[in-house]
Amino acid sequence: MWPRRTTRRPPMVEDRLSPEQIDVLLTAAVAAPSMHNTQPWRFEVSGHVIDVFLDSSRALPAEDPSGRALRIAAGAATFNLRCAAASMGYHTWLGLMPCPEEEPDLVARIVTEPAGVPDQELSVLYAEIPRRHTSRAPVQDESITQDLRIALIQEAFKEKAELTWLGDAQTERILDLVREADLREIGDWHRSAERARWVGRRQGADGIPSAALGPRSATYPGVVRDLATAPLDRSRPSAAFEQHPSIAVLSTAGDEPADHVAAGLALERVLLVATRRGATASFLNQPLEHDDLRRAVQRTIQGTTRKSGFAHMVIRFGRGRAAATTGRRPTQDFIDNPEES
Ligand SMILES: Cc1cc2nc3c(=O)[nH]c(=O)nc-3n(C[C@H](O)[C@H](O)[C@H](O)COP(=O)(O)O)c2cc1C
Repeated sequence: MWPRRTTRRPPMVEDRLSPEQIDVLLTAAVAAPSMHNTQPWRFEVSGHVIDVFLDSSRALPAEDPSGRALRIAAGAATFNLRCAAASMGYHTWLGLMPCPEEEPDLVARIVTEPAGVPDQELSVLYAEIPRRHTSRAPVQDESITQDLRIALIQEAFKEKAELTWLGDAQTERILDLVREADLREIGDWHRSAERARWVGRRQGADGIPSAALGPRSATYPGVVRDLATAPLDRSRPSAAFEQHPSIAVLSTAGDEPADHVAAGLALERVLLVATRRGATASFLNQPLEHDDLRRAVQRTIQGTTRKSGFAHMVIRFGRGRAAATTGRRPTQDFIDNPEES
């Protein structure tokens, strides 16, 4: 069950976060999206400091050899932590990749400051965390208004990322790149074996259950990525999807590990604001998993922005049915020093 905020009043200046507060913070963090719902993060809490680490045992070496998706997921979890802390009345200070040489797995350090002024925008978004789910169902055509498009561009900008909406010709180009990526995946047994480990089964504490795959697309290439590997999932019922999808690409100016974490913060901010405004999202990331196709995605959006950068997520937005949820492991599984907290 989604934990209630522990307090609405400014917190007392204690010298450490209480176990109840830590549980609220981590429940929010682990609700973040992650590739194949691997939940590749760990946390250490010391006093008022929360460190977010990558859990490399949950890496995806075939589909994410550089660990970029891992860092994006950890960035999204970090954003949720900040929202939860703000909802408890804390101001937070954030450092990304604070010790890149000595501790490359330490992706973010959050300091909660009881005496500071909490960020109201983050506090409001806390309520959206349990409502956000990746929705791979068909949506209405062109349902994302210009107003919402601009709002989401601004939200990405707040986290130093860029969200670029695609026109018709660019959408066609991205779908060509999706087709190319899908072709390369055929016969890549390393990838299929890795994906089969995480995707397509009954609801569990991690991975993507069959119910969350959504229907197959009646046409190819679909505007939703078909992640099915098991024979029963591959032959699930098909449906007609929207003909004019609303697709945007999230990118950052750099491509260093800290940029990947920043992309994750921006991703979650954009997704939570979209959720608040009644929109859903799914991802068409397969071209981004091949260096040359990723560059081609970036070239496609450069036509509109004329800026260089690095693409991180291809996001399809819409308004449709509520999505099937995915599970999460219990919060105690993620904390490294429970006896000290
Ligand atoms: C870096 C990253 C890459 C992802 N890539 C895809 C993708 O290509 N296709 C897709 O359908 N979902 C993709 N997802 C969504 C995850 O599958 C989803 O977040 C996860 O299963 C948890 O489900 P939830 O988002 O409903 O909480 C991606 C998520 C992240 C963070």
